[in-house]
Amino acid sequence: MARKKIIAGNWKMNMTPSEAVALIEKLKPLVVTDEADVVFCVPAIDIIPAIEAAKGTNIQIGAENMYFEEKGAFTGEISPAMLVDAGVKYVIIGHSERREYFAETDETVNKKVLKAFEHGLTPIICCGESLTQREQGITIDWIRQQIKIAFLNVTAQQAESAVIAYEPIWAIGTGKVATTEQAQEVCAAIRACIGELYGADTAAAIRIQYGGSVSASSAPELFAQADIDGGLVGGASLKEDFGKIVNYK
Ligand code: 13P
Repeated sequence: MARKKIIAGNWKMNMTPSEAVALIEKLKPLVVTDEADVVFCVPAIDIIPAIEAAKGTNIQIGAENMYFEEKGAFTGEISPAMLVDAGVKYVIIGHSERREYFAETDETVNKKVLKAFEHGLTPIICCGESLTQREQGITIDWIRQQIKIAFLNVTAQQAESAVIAYEPIWAIGTGKVATTEQAQEVCAAIRACIGELYGADTAAAIRIQYGGSVSASSAPELFAQADIDGGLVGGASLKEDFGKIVNYK
């Protein structure tokens, strides 16, 4: 069966709760489609009003992060059960900004991925190389390592439902989108790596997004690639452009 596209916005640290509601009101008529899953990953404080605002639409609300413990003395963190109770289905795990500014590692990413599955959340697992790594020619090795650690102890059945977002760090927020060849090459390598870990069926089922300066103009070519099943969109997800990205065809 063909994989359904998944196009997700990552709002990052933007939008107050009232701005979030206004943005969803504005975007909801523009992101209507049967062809892709549409997810808005929003700041934790926006989750509840966003879910309310998105009721009756095709928009699903995701979180940008969560902690890997069940509950307790972890001031400031959000637990998986809190997300589930609020009605969240997806959670971004291990975004490069969290790795860079909040000391997340492949190991904490793995713990969060396992916890997300335990609670029935679908993780959007981020990976990506720096410009230096790309210039050194170690992109694929690096990504394979990130994927192998992220999926430690994840079952094939869980892996099948996961989403991976390939986001080259040098393309994030820079306006410098990867070429379609670069994006397809790495997404294909990720699928091959999942194939080695779990077999061909899981590799064929898992959805892999590209992220990094996706725009209304770059989306059609990127999303037409054999191994690119949609996008994780930062800046452009806060604008009407997101409607064009979702309806890229
Ligand atoms: P931009 O689309 O703003 O480059 O951000 C990409 C990203 O980091 C999505 O998670």
